[in-house]
Amino acid sequence: MIDFKNVSKVYDNGTRALSNVNIHIDKGEFVFVVGASGAGKSTFLKLMMREEVPSSGTIRIKDYNLGEMKKRKIPYFRRNMGIVFQDFRLIPNMIVYDNIAFAMRVVGAKEKEIRKRVPYVINIVGLPQKAHSYPSELSGGEQQRVALARALVNNADIIIADEPTGNVDPQMSLEIVELLKRLNETGTTVIMVTHAHDLVKKFDNRVIVLDSGEVVSDGLVDGGEIPIHSSSHLNLQPDGKIKNKFTKKFGKKNKAEEPAGEKGKDDSFLDALVGDTDSYRVYLEEEKPEEVTAENTEGGDSK
Ligand SMILES: Nc1ncnc2c1ncn2[C@@H]1O[C@H](COP(=O)(O)OP(=O)(O)OP(=O)(O)O)[C@@H](O)[C@H]1O
Ligand SMILES: [Mg+2]
Repeated sequence: MIDFKNVSKVYDNGTRALSNVNIHIDKGEFVFVVGASGAGKSTFLKLMMREEVPSSGTIRIKDYNLGEMKKRKIPYFRRNMGIVFQDFRLIPNMIVYDNIAFAMRVVGAKEKEIRKRVPYVINIVGLPQKAHSYPSELSGGEQQRVALARALVNNADIIIADEPTGNVDPQMSLEIVELLKRLNETGTTVIMVTHAHDLVKKFDNRVIVLDSGEVVSDGLVDGGEIPIHSSSHLNLQPDGKIKNKFTKKFGKKNKAEEPAGEKGKDDSFLDALVGDTDSYRVYLEEEKPEEVTAENTEGGDSK
């Protein structure tokens, strides 16, 4: 699904951000990307979303060859993706609701769908009381959650998230990854950059480690041996093993029964999504009647 062949990226100022990257990511995978600041993680994602083009090598995503893609095709290509940018990129003069709705409008969603879906994702990320705030009125973590909601709203096939937990507390970080995991279980491919190595160690996911623009390891963190050579990046035990606290605490993955987090607290942030990811897909297909929400009582459907 995502294929990097001998990809290098040298920026105009001569900075070599990626060197000879060969990576294949299958549909439905959940991949963490880690590495020190400046290692090339964001560049890797930016190439994937065709925000940057490689200096050499080939990138294929689905049926697209990104190097050959015409500019006007980019918006269509991006419809396949939900993106959380490292710097959020919220639109400053739009309230939270409209920032998220905008992502649906650009892909041509119907207003009726927007009125149902936007309050729903705002609720998932726990910000219903901020729906009418401007980004500048939000904390960093709240802005990050809006960025996450925007990435989720179109039910994209691929979620590309650049440090989606960088500005929230550990409990919220865990919930966000759980949320992404559950989306992943419905078939969404997830690629997530993070500096939170504790978080990475809690999940049995594939981890790509970048170091000075090179992929220095790529493999599963599975509670036992992990194929990571660059110990400085993942705080490995001296024996090269990694403790999988998550597995110990919550058992092997079968997410349906898993508690959301250590506190076993309110699951609604996550639970809402599991059921509703599917029901939203059904909704799109069947045009179910709308729920009444604060948002859709204002305009209504009648013209
Ligand atoms: N637009 C740009 N022009 C020139 N150099 C760039 C540009 N963007 C990134 N770089 C450089 O490329 C290298 C990789 O940057 P990148 O943003 O991919 O790192 P990163 O792994 O995401 O780091 P961080 O963890 O700090 O976000 C760095 O040396 C950075 O300074
Ligand atoms: Mg970055």
